Amino acid sequence: MTRTNAADPEPVAGMAPGNRPGNPLLSVEQLSVEFATGSGFTRVVDDVSFSIDPGETVGIVGESGSGKSVTAMAIMGLIPTPPGRIASGRIALADEDLLGLSEAQLRSVRGNRVAMIFQEPLTALNPAFTIGDQLVEAVRAHRKLSKQQATDRAAELLDLVGIPSARRRLEEYPHRFSGGMLQRAMIAGALACDPELLIADEPTTALDVTVQAQILTLLRRLQDELGMAMLLISHDLGVIADVCDRVGVMYAGQLVETAPVLELFARPRHPYTEGLMLAMPQHTAAGSRLVPIPGTVPDLATVQDQCRFEPRCRYAVDRCRAGRIPLEPTSAEHAVRCTRTHEIELGASS
Ligand SMILES: Nc1ncnc2c1ncn2[C@@H]1O[C@H](COP(=O)(O)OP(=O)(O)OP(=O)(O)O)[C@@H](O)[C@H]1O
Ligand SMILES: [Mg+2]
Repeated sequence: MTRTNAADPEPVAGMAPGNRPGNPLLSVEQLSVEFATGSGFTRVVDDVSFSIDPGETVGIVGESGSGKSVTAMAIMGLIPTPPGRIASGRIALADEDLLGLSEAQLRSVRGNRVAMIFQEPLTALNPAFTIGDQLVEAVRAHRKLSKQQATDRAAELLDLVGIPSARRRLEEYPHRFSGGMLQRAMIAGALACDPELLIADEPTTALDVTVQAQILTLLRRLQDELGMAMLLISHDLGVIADVCDRVGVMYAGQLVETAPVLELFARPRHPYTEGLMLAMPQHTAAGSRLVPIPGTVPDLATVQDQCRFEPRCRYAVDRCRAGRIPLEPTSAEHAVRCTRTHEIELGASS
């Protein structure tokens, strides 16, 4: 991965904002996802573009309901249809167009190349089977191995995710595991297929703070050791900052800013990103206060063609209400969806 700064040359003409030149592993272009509602369809993911290079970690951050999980589900081919539908866009893994695949082909991609872990590890594990049964099954779904070989591999995976006495713990049932251990076991299951891309949707949100830190450390270590790419979804900018190379900030179904993490923290360009930073406990110096973003997220069923953050934005002017605002590159690696990017001086980093 390459970290660059705002003085970089202009982006390649014609490239979707948020995507960069080169050969990305995952490429999401102008993705829009809608769900049927009483009166028609509501667009909950709108014009989302980003890419992930092999071995890179990209974060998506945003408030509840901003469309992070729906974006992940679309990549996994798991949008329930109906009521959902991919209204437009392209999702490619290496050069393969995922939206053009049959259900069987998608299952194979999910089983062999892309894996996902969720916020609630218990929901993905069956309480009636041992951890070992479930890991062995995951291993054998991908590789033709004997029961014994698969058990060895399952123990290896538990060991890899930092569960001590791995072989003995294979025989235990999920209820014997703590929340942190369950999340480790889930990660072990996801690694069973040696994925090129791991999608982690709020993997630490349900855990207490110390365990959260341990799981993040584990994810970082696994990435280094296994060289896989990762899409990390979180509502917590601190989590993203700890783990990711690049980040996309989502607001009300749209990406409003994409940048390398270091650059985003040094020079946020979207007022919503600034708001998220001012609301971070880590940001506040001794004596200063957390500053929550005033107002609430808009109702996606009634959003108009204008800046969606405008009602809450302290920099808003008439122009922000005058039509659709594109995500526009400000440098090779930084893109912003704001009409005032070049006029306003944001203060979060001062
Ligand atoms: N199956 C569904 N049917 C109808 N609407 C849905 C469905 N799944 C998600 N949505 C809607 O899509 C929008 C985006 O939801 P999504 O789950 O992606 O948010 P999120 O950013 O992951 O939020 P959170 O931080 O709470 O997980 C929400 O308005 C949600 O109500
Ligand atoms: Mg979610």
